[in-house]
Amino acid sequence: MKRQAPEHGSPPDSTGISFTALYTGAVWHRHGLSDDALATAPGQWLYHLMTPLEATGMAVLGANLRIFLLQRHLIIDHLVEQAVNRGVTQVLEIACGMSPRGIRLRQKFPQLHMAEADLPAMATRKASRLLVTGNLGPRHQVMPVDILAPAGDHSLETVVARTFDNREPVVVITEGLTSYFSLPVISGFWQRLASVLKERPGSVYLSESYLMPTQLLLRSNLKFFGGLLGAITRSDVSFHFRDDQQAAEHFSSCGFPAVTVHNPADFYGRLAIPQSRHDPMVRVVEARS
Ligand SMILES: C[S@@+](CC[C@H](N)C(=O)[O-])C[C@H]1O[C@@H](n2cnc3c(N)ncnc32)[C@H](O)[C@@H]1O
Repeated sequence: MKRQAPEHGSPPDSTGISFTALYTGAVWHRHGLSDDALATAPGQWLYHLMTPLEATGMAVLGANLRIFLLQRHLIIDHLVEQAVNRGVTQVLEIACGMSPRGIRLRQKFPQLHMAEADLPAMATRKASRLLVTGNLGPRHQVMPVDILAPAGDHSLETVVARTFDNREPVVVITEGLTSYFSLPVISGFWQRLASVLKERPGSVYLSESYLMPTQLLLRSNLKFFGGLLGAITRSDVSFHFRDDQQAAEHFSSCGFPAVTVHNPADFYGRLAIPQSRHDPMVRVVEARS
């Protein structure tokens, strides 16, 4: 069961992905990174449901999804902080789901203009929860966006232009989003984002990518679980790259002039991130304009 064909003029429907934000939201909450207002009951339920699978992954592979989620989340936080320390004051977190990053960033850097964005239903849900925490305001907003919208109110270009001071750089984050789309589809978004950021020198794009493992058994298992997740979320779950070099070259070809692909292992001992037994499957991509 794949994503439905779009009606004429409307972008493809990717709302089937949205519930996964409840699981990641529960992971952030369980690890002390979030606020109670962002922990949902379905998220807690999914967390329990996934625990045996996560434990099996840990026992057999020496890693699991939760480890990779925490690695990517904390490394992205670290890279956002580096950008803020260089003077960037505008952050857009696309596909924010129940991410607590906006709350934590605004606590640490009150000067930040934080904009969180997601598909309309998830954006409304997030806004109502942030309202409870007292975080919403002119410097911390939530808004609808659809990365597949080619134009209009919810398109990337409109959201960025409408929200920020366009003479200043911006940090754009997508976490937990891009692997739900085939490489050609997500590359269209990356190319548009590169054009948007090119007009705002000093901007940075932060995202993660899961590398396709070379080991045959692991590879076929992952393909199976990816296919299952794709069927449940009605999306094209994909492992886009074989290795760091291929990932970096692809982002360059999308129009980002400076790309660094970060391996979580390089942060062991420097950041308080969990470690996996072997080379982590996840990478954090930092692409600068
Ligand atoms: C796995 S969740 C990640 C949520 C959050 N970033 C995190 O890491 O906890 C994926 C998110 O992508 C959002 N999403 C799906 N399709 C989207 C689209 N076309 N444009 C923007 N966001 C989208 C979903 O609503 C959901 O919140």
